Amino acid sequence: MNAHPLEEPGVSSRFIDPCILVIFGATGDLTARKLLPAIYNLAREGQLPSQFAVVGFARRDKTHEIFRAEMKEAINEFSRVKPVDEAIWKNFEQQIFYHRSEFNDDSGYQTLDRFLKELDGRFGTKGNRVFYLSTQPSFFTTICEKLHTSSLIYDQKTIKDKWSRIIIEKPFGHDLDSAHALQNELLQFLSEKQIYRIDHYLGKETVQNLMVFRFANSIFESLWNNRYIDHVQITVAEEIGIGRRGAFFEEAGLLRDVLQNHMMQLLSLVAMEPPVTLSANAIRDEKVKVLQALRPFTKEDFKTSIIRGQYDKGFVEGETVKGYREEDKVDPKSNIETYVAIRLFIDNWRWHGTPFYLRSGKRLPKRATEIAIQFKHPPGVLFQENDKQREPNILAIRIQPDEGTALKINCKVPGPASPIQPVKMDFRYGSYFGMSPPEAYERLILDCMIGDNTLFAREDEVFSSWTLLTPVLKQWKTTEPDCFPNYSSGTWGPELAEEMMHRDGRKWRIL
Ligand SMILES: NC(=O)c1ccc[n+]([C@@H]2O[C@H](COP(=O)([O-])OP(=O)(O)OC[C@H]3O[C@@H](n4cnc5c(N)ncnc54)[C@H](OP(=O)(O)O)[C@@H]3O)[C@@H](O)[C@H]2O)c1
Repeated sequence: MNAHPLEEPGVSSRFIDPCILVIFGATGDLTARKLLPAIYNLAREGQLPSQFAVVGFARRDKTHEIFRAEMKEAINEFSRVKPVDEAIWKNFEQQIFYHRSEFNDDSGYQTLDRFLKELDGRFGTKGNRVFYLSTQPSFFTTICEKLHTSSLIYDQKTIKDKWSRIIIEKPFGHDLDSAHALQNELLQFLSEKQIYRIDHYLGKETVQNLMVFRFANSIFESLWNNRYIDHVQITVAEEIGIGRRGAFFEEAGLLRDVLQNHMMQLLSLVAMEPPVTLSANAIRDEKVKVLQALRPFTKEDFKTSIIRGQYDKGFVEGETVKGYREEDKVDPKSNIETYVAIRLFIDNWRWHGTPFYLRSGKRLPKRATEIAIQFKHPPGVLFQENDKQREPNILAIRIQPDEGTALKINCKVPGPASPIQPVKMDFRYGSYFGMSPPEAYERLILDCMIGDNTLFAREDEVFSSWTLLTPVLKQWKTTEPDCFPNYSSGTWGPELAEEMMHRDGRKWRIL
């Protein structure tokens, strides 16, 4: 197995205990599109322990055989490697099971307990459990309570010979108060160490590489501060609309769906100080310090530096597409945001005065997630005549797609005259390593089985992010936007976002 890039040297923490993975919400979209394909790929690459089983838990009535056939179909459709390898599948499917029950039915958990113990006997899984809650957040507490009552979650203060862990899908709460309330409820049934809050961005190779890039190369770290960096732009753009997720999106909105979790994680990795070790807590301590140093928004910021938008109809990839208000299960007068742009300042020694601009939206011209570090111009004493041609150095870290890193530098065009032209040094994962990176869920499921929570969000990270953003949600709730929809599908978002950059003498990158 490849070494974990964040692994503590000399510590063999990658041993995977035998275990059973139970997926709550096993007939849902996430299980079919991401979870089962990820587990299949782990099996295909021989990364799973041989003593292993998966149990799907959901409400619909079906046999193990039907569940397996459906999962095979899903893997054939969504796996990064397809079609399913029949030889691998023949063995792997024998380890997949289905358990039918309602989430709030006590007897379903008692029969689950008996079934898992039977599987322990068959597969040698030794009582170790990962419970993956791929369900609506409103079920998180109920499921944990029932697991606790049925002794499926172990009190690890007294039980040392086996373990149980819970993976919780985002969102963790819908604002600061609800995140605190959820945490308090969960802590009645399990400890913080047993909670793995998944943010699949953290499982992406390119995101993990951020720390390696910053701290394993001496050339960047000395420039990584307000003296040399003019500003940072983080973009998470999608060309798709909300599709069939209308009901979900009407409750969530883009700020809760993307900004509060994925983008805050990217921001903290870009801006954190070097951790003292590569242990999970040392890394997360540094990340949370960044979030705690974010300057709270002022009244003025609400007018100028917090922009929301909603897409109208338009053209994407040559096709006419609907506006958000015309989408399925969306209120025709909805004021939910499908675009957000904000300017943030981190009030610490390293970043004082350097703005971080974050933007994310649906129905933008393309799918692209990128972190761009824009450096300051060098002193203008030389090459003044070329000033108009000189562009700032930009380090662009492409998280997806086309994963890689590009550095824009100024260069003399060959010949007796000295025009300056920006050129690009470009590193691409795909062409350099000859493979596309594994899916984030593969890494994260494996990490949970290993007991490594480095790439999962800690409670204080979630709370700090909500602390900053809850006032925005409150303000938006009380002041209805009068301009929605305010950008056409297939454009880079509302004019207001351009104006925000323009006022600061900057512009968004064209991706
Ligand atoms: N889909 C995504 O792309 C995505 C991405 C990131 C995060 N997430 C998060 O992942 C979670 C799951 O999303 P999803 O899209 O997979 O949801 P989904 O398609 O709506 O699936 C919900 C699952 O929960 C089960 N379920 C619902 N009520 C139940 C009950 N009372 N008792 C037993 N089972 C019940 C359903 O079983 P039956 O069908 O048998 O009723 C189904 O298996 C959500 O928290 C979501 O926010 C999803």
